[in-house]
Amino acid sequence: MATIQQLFLPVQPKSEDNSNKVTVVGAGQVGMAAVFAMLTQGVTNNIALIDVNEDKLRGELMDLQHGSAFLKSAKIQASADPVITAGSKICVVTAGVRQREGETRLNLVQRNTDVLKMIIPTLVQYSPDVIFIIASNPVDILTYVTWKLSGLPKHRVIGSGTNLDSARFRYLLSEKLSVAATSCHGYIIGEHGDSSVPVWSGVNVAGVRLRDLNRKMGTDTDPEHWQELHSMVVRSAYEVIKLKGYTSWAIGLSLSQLAHAILTNANSVHAVSTYVKGEHGVEDEVFLSLPCVLGFNGVSDVIRQPLTEKEIYQLRASARIMVQVQVGIKF
Ligand code: NAD
Ligand code: LAC
Repeated sequence: MATIQQLFLPVQPKSEDNSNKVTVVGAGQVGMAAVFAMLTQGVTNNIALIDVNEDKLRGELMDLQHGSAFLKSAKIQASADPVITAGSKICVVTAGVRQREGETRLNLVQRNTDVLKMIIPTLVQYSPDVIFIIASNPVDILTYVTWKLSGLPKHRVIGSGTNLDSARFRYLLSEKLSVAATSCHGYIIGEHGDSSVPVWSGVNVAGVRLRDLNRKMGTDTDPEHWQELHSMVVRSAYEVIKLKGYTSWAIGLSLSQLAHAILTNANSVHAVSTYVKGEHGVEDEVFLSLPCVLGFNGVSDVIRQPLTEKEIYQLRASARIMVQVQVGIKF
């Protein structure tokens, strides 16, 4: 009698390729937006998803698997057991609590530090060559905490940082100028969120620096009120959280872009949270966003932007806030 095995002439066992394996920790709004962006943008087809909520994991896994016919050979695993993360190239951390309406990111610090204490050492054990991309808030502090807990070199511990704030800024520039966001260039650096620093001195379209056309751009006395764009960036998350309860799509796309840069060895430049001691006069062990070159090894270089005195002052103020919070955390 014929059996289904007659379909196959065995030649060689199938191989396990982990070169693009991405673990996502936290199957919540941010984690799932990141997974969806990575799978649909073809950044990876190999995802390990872990969370403490097993029902949520199973539901998300089934829902994604039902989309397999629309994806490109997706291999998705989900479990509360971190064994499935073994051999990951990247680990995106989105686990923990998020802000409720009116709460700041810094309010979350101890609760999310406690979450990282539970997961980071285990993740490193299973994937000793991993590169961390931290998204959980307050992201700059938690990137520092991950660096300490993991024992990894600083180029392999990255915070999603102001890649998102810079994207929000570019969107708002694009609305004001009626030019595509991808053609509006500008960086927000420093802390992700409340004390972020807009680098007005570098904002340009096609290499034309807008400040050369409006010397007061970004100052309080600017008759065109460009400074309002940065205030809107800072308010963005609070507004979205008030309206829909959380932010997800833009951070998911931001995380997907960072994973793509690493997995393709792109050497592309992104504002991410990195170890900044020694740069722009920052004297403390803190992580803040500066434009960084990202590739296979994580951060290969920090770009030295020529900042104005005011921008340097603001960056150092961000650093002081980080230090004040860091001394109070228990880990
Ligand atoms: P969420 O509540 O939807 O999801 C969090 C998930 O983490 C939950 O599924 C929960 O079960 C899981 N979790 C909790 N403890 C865990 C543990 N020990 N191990 C594994 N999983 C665990 O929250 P969210 O909206 O996805 O936000 C997640 C985090 O991302 C928050 O800290 C939020 O502030 C932050 N965030 C950061 C940015 C950014 O730009 N960096 C943007 C948006 C949100
Ligand atoms: C953001 C989160 C809340 O969307 O940090 O900015």
